[in-house]
Amino acid sequence: MIKITVSASKKYDVIMEQNALNKAAELLSQAEIKSDRKLCIITDKTVNSFYGKESGILWQNLSQAGFRLYKYVFEGGESNKTMSTVTAILDYLADNKFSRSDALIALGGGIVGDVTGFSAASFLRGIDYIQIPTTLLATVDSSVGGKTGVNLKAGKNLAGAFWQPSLVIFDPQVLQSLPQHMILDGIAETIKAGFINDKTIIDEAENNISIGDNRFLTQLAAKAVEVKRKVVEEDERDNGSRQLLNFGHTLAHAIEKCSNYRISHGHAVAKGMAIVSAAADEMAWTSVPCAGKILEILKKFNFPLDCPYSPSQLTEAALQDKKIRGNKITLVIPESIGKCRLKTIATDDLEEFITCGMDALKGM
Ligand SMILES: NC(=O)c1ccc[n+]([C@@H]2O[C@H](COP(=O)([O-])OP(=O)(O)OC[C@H]3O[C@@H](n4cnc5c(N)ncnc54)[C@H](O)[C@@H]3O)[C@@H](O)[C@H]2O)c1
Repeated sequence: MIKITVSASKKYDVIMEQNALNKAAELLSQAEIKSDRKLCIITDKTVNSFYGKESGILWQNLSQAGFRLYKYVFEGGESNKTMSTVTAILDYLADNKFSRSDALIALGGGIVGDVTGFSAASFLRGIDYIQIPTTLLATVDSSVGGKTGVNLKAGKNLAGAFWQPSLVIFDPQVLQSLPQHMILDGIAETIKAGFINDKTIIDEAENNISIGDNRFLTQLAAKAVEVKRKVVEEDERDNGSRQLLNFGHTLAHAIEKCSNYRISHGHAVAKGMAIVSAAADEMAWTSVPCAGKILEILKKFNFPLDCPYSPSQLTEAALQDKKIRGNKITLVIPESIGKCRLKTIATDDLEEFITCGMDALKGM
């Protein structure tokens, strides 16, 4: 068992253990979530069919321990990560007389986690929730750190709250049903964590590529969570160093938007890290050249690194990002392998920066 304790505005454990779903009740009890409480499992239709059923391991384990279980299942996908899904969940909790001492369980990927977390933050001005991530991306990124929220018509994640979970439980067994391209989405975020703050992730991923091996994935995921823990503890509300977690993300969000979300987030992050690191090397903003290593590792995992959009298309999409303040944009730049820093540039210079990176990549 791997246990990582996050000490943010709330202190909680991230437990990573094979077959952890079989002992969920015991883990909840250790986190002071007692079995006299009502629990509402919130999940999407796909995850429900794998892990949410009343006959399944998780439900059986919790109900046998005495928890009074409820379940709310919604249609997954970004188009349902909305206020109306949250409102429906809040109404369901109110109809079933949930109180402040009851709790929610987010069983699913990042969308379920974000929607459930925001529902927990809002219901009765805040109740406990437990994250049980079922994608690698949710495990290494969205289940830890307490960013919750939904999309608005104007863009992704524009409404939300910082609300930390009470416990995170990752059972690597759930990865068995996850399609390979979605494992790769999680690998991209894991590699990102390595380049930000932990070179050993890069070394291990390089020497030991085995995306079908749960032990290998769990070890890498634990290291990525450790990076996230440090950053979140330092800057929980994302006013400074937490922005480092956005390495590759300014461009990734632009690529996702230009593709009308056909290119997945993790694959877009891989392309974004490649362009930014190539540009940073060209501009001599890195203390040692980084792009070569970043490309080498991304190519080992067979990430397609071509970008079908022009620098002007990407710039236009990037400048619609909610994080832009005035006429400046903060980029995350690699400084050396395992270390990144923030660099603020004028929005007028962004297109030149992207052009520089895309041109440099053609020769690599
Ligand atoms: N809050 C944060 O800090 C944070 C960080 C990163 C990403 N996010 C958010 O996370 C979301 C993306 O998360 P995601 O990539 O996990 O996507 P997701 O939640 O949409 O899951 C992807 C798909 O996989 C299915 N699925 C989930 N687990 C499965 C399993 N074990 N087996 C088979 N199918 C499974 C889901 O039903 C869904 O169709 C985005 O909305 C993003 O904004 C949030």
